[in-house]
Amino acid sequence: MSLTANDAMIEIRPSAHPASAEERAARMTNPGFGRIFTDHMVVVPYVEGKGWGKGVLKAYGPIEMDPAASVLHYGQAIFEGFKAYKQPDGSIASFRPDANSRRFNASAARLAMPELPEEIFIGAAKALISQDKAWVPGAVGESLYMRPLMIATEAALGVRPSNEYLFVLLASPSGAYFPAGVKPVTVWISDDYVRAAPGGTGFAKCAGNYAASLVAQRQAKEEGCDQVVWLDAIQREYIEEMGGMNIFFVYQEKGETVVVTPELTGTLLPGITRDSLLQLAREQGFRAEERKISVAEWKSAIAEGRMTEAFACGTAAVITPVGHVKSRRGNWDINKGETGPVAAKLREALLNLQHGLAPDTHGWMTKIV
Ligand code: PLP
Ligand code: COI
Repeated sequence: MSLTANDAMIEIRPSAHPASAEERAARMTNPGFGRIFTDHMVVVPYVEGKGWGKGVLKAYGPIEMDPAASVLHYGQAIFEGFKAYKQPDGSIASFRPDANSRRFNASAARLAMPELPEEIFIGAAKALISQDKAWVPGAVGESLYMRPLMIATEAALGVRPSNEYLFVLLASPSGAYFPAGVKPVTVWISDDYVRAAPGGTGFAKCAGNYAASLVAQRQAKEEGCDQVVWLDAIQREYIEEMGGMNIFFVYQEKGETVVVTPELTGTLLPGITRDSLLQLAREQGFRAEERKISVAEWKSAIAEGRMTEAFACGTAAVITPVGHVKSRRGNWDINKGETGPVAAKLREALLNLQHGLAPDTHGWMTKIV
């Protein structure tokens, strides 16, 4: 995918006080996830009837808002996450930002918010990454995490879609999502809470989904786990996804390696990493399936040795193996709590593509600068 000259749509007003090279280097040491931010951000306003206004790239900083802004009351807020990677030739490319743009608009439609043209979404990314390119880390496993969001800004307490919105794009140099790095995580299957129900907002990346998940995530922590595994709302039996990532299972069936991920039902987020891995798995010679998987099947397939691995995947988490499962229905280990060969192979294939160390045969990389 190529980028046209969108720069004209974004006015560039560089910060008068960017971080010095020393300060930047210090802040970028062991960045973790989502803790440090670059010098700039992009904002683009929307007014009903007029459409999207001129975008501005300016110094990173607070956003002023009326206390009656409807996002603060009724929660019209959506976001995305994608990454930009340093390439071997020194250029910077981002992974499938067009897919994030489409999902952003699917989320917007569900929340009765306006769609944002892809040229603005990608143009804003191009402007911000170009301006802050010194903040893109170089090591494999590190990247510049891009966080686009849209909020309802009209000062109005009536419960109806806002007539004004703000699109914001910020960028955060990032390493591993989990503090322990890529070590296998322990997950808690939530029997007490539900993330999403049919007809709800499960497929959308809206702030409310995450707000509703936090009490379950806290419970998982109290149970000694890193992440929640969500079940379907009706039968409370079928595995959907995790707190901020999708999930895959690896089976050995009659000498064949089969990777399985829960099918998209409308209640789980259609992950872009999930979609990419379904394709990469097939290219690695594995069978890849999307279907329903119950907790009972998970438990029995492990006990019978048919399931050899499980792993989480997402933009932030990349691929993170699941080593231990805890729940009210019992506890079990997967692959003795170690990273398995299929997760390792897919992780390497994905990272090689993203860092430009393998040919981009899918046209997934968008050159930024
Ligand atoms: N599921 C949830 C709830 C998420 O927040 C994310 C992260 O974006 C994912 C899955 C994985 O999606 P993606 O691979 O597009 O990052
Ligand atoms: C992402 O992977 O981009 C996510 O959004 C996951 C989480 C940080 C919310």
